[in-house]
Amino acid sequence: SAACAKTTVLTADRMIDVENGKLITNAVVVMEDNTIVAAGTKRSVTIPSDADVMELGDYTLMPGLMDMHVHLTSDATKHGYKRLADSLPRVTLTGVKHAEATLMAGFTTVRNVGAPGFADVALRDAINDGDIQGPRMFVSGPSLGVTGGHCDNNLLPYEFHTVSEGVADGPWAVREIVRRNIKYGATVIKFCGTGGVLSKGTKVGVQQYTFEEMQALVDEAHMRGLTVATHAHGTSGIKTAIKAGVDSVEHVSLLDEEGIELALEHGTYFSMDIYVTEYILSEGEKAGILEESLAKERIVGKRQRENFQKAVKAGVKMVFGSDAGVYPHGDNGKQFARMVRFGMTPMQAIQAATIHPATLLKQQETLGSIRAGKKADIVGVKGNPLDDISLLENVGLVVKDGHIVKSVAM
Ligand code: ARG
Repeated sequence: SAACAKTTVLTADRMIDVENGKLITNAVVVMEDNTIVAAGTKRSVTIPSDADVMELGDYTLMPGLMDMHVHLTSDATKHGYKRLADSLPRVTLTGVKHAEATLMAGFTTVRNVGAPGFADVALRDAINDGDIQGPRMFVSGPSLGVTGGHCDNNLLPYEFHTVSEGVADGPWAVREIVRRNIKYGATVIKFCGTGGVLSKGTKVGVQQYTFEEMQALVDEAHMRGLTVATHAHGTSGIKTAIKAGVDSVEHVSLLDEEGIELALEHGTYFSMDIYVTEYILSEGEKAGILEESLAKERIVGKRQRENFQKAVKAGVKMVFGSDAGVYPHGDNGKQFARMVRFGMTPMQAIQAATIHPATLLKQQETLGSIRAGKKADIVGVKGNPLDDISLLENVGLVVKDGHIVKSVAM
């Protein structure tokens, strides 16, 4: 290692080994610059004499949290027609604030699945350049969708000719948008495979895109080395997307037995946002969510929670995805307690927000666990989250890329 490398050591009463699903006591982590060089116990790891040592005591160290479904450019207090008033520069600036709030909540990596005007690419680049603080971002650019579908904007009448930037109909048209999104910086592809709750005039149960279109889209993305995330609430949309080879299905509300079987067979990940329903039903009306959307939510939220439980029981690969942006950024961690209430062990919920997303994103060599050779993305919480998962709503220590960006512990 270079002579000028900076060595930092964290010690804590506990650490979570997400790869083996184990709690480690008397933990020691050694970081050199932005990399973890050793992780283990006080007995197994020697603390270098020149290191800066941070002794956390009654804390639990965990890998940096990863949220696979956020919209950093979306403001939870502005929904429906209120959203039409904000310009692209305005929502990009709001994203700056949201990126910081997300990082401070312990989420060191996010997958941003849908943003206008490649504002997500700009945010990612500003974070990577060190201009602003935020999580590592995997970004989709504008989500693909059919004309009039959930990923189109259907609020204004015909004479305004409003068409969202990701709208494309037909196999070759979707290939072209995938290529364009990659050209302008997307590192993941997102499309809408069914109607949605918050879009005007769409039905959650109804499929959008044919199998042929989904297959073309997935083929194009995979050929270019990108993974695909699909918004799907409806049963046929979920199943058709899985058959077309998508990497993750988002929401997955009206799942059936066959959908579970298909996900197990194809190794598809589910990203089920089971907290957001509480925010939509309590704060949504004030925030401008349309009455038709509130009506859809009253049906979808409950079914989604039941099906979350079934999917967990069946052993489907689950990742933490919150849809923050619909609800306030920084509150991402509130979903953990719901994931445990609806069938996960605390360890499973933590794995869903660490090692599983790393694998979904094909970043398991560098992210997702505290292990020598991986990037130093680490969070610390006071107490033991395996005893009380809601402790993850208050992350006291955040280390991203070897930098201590938040520390209330000292
Ligand atoms: N963005 C999603 C949609 O509009 C939000 C769904 C939220 N509801 C839920 N129960 N997960 O469809």
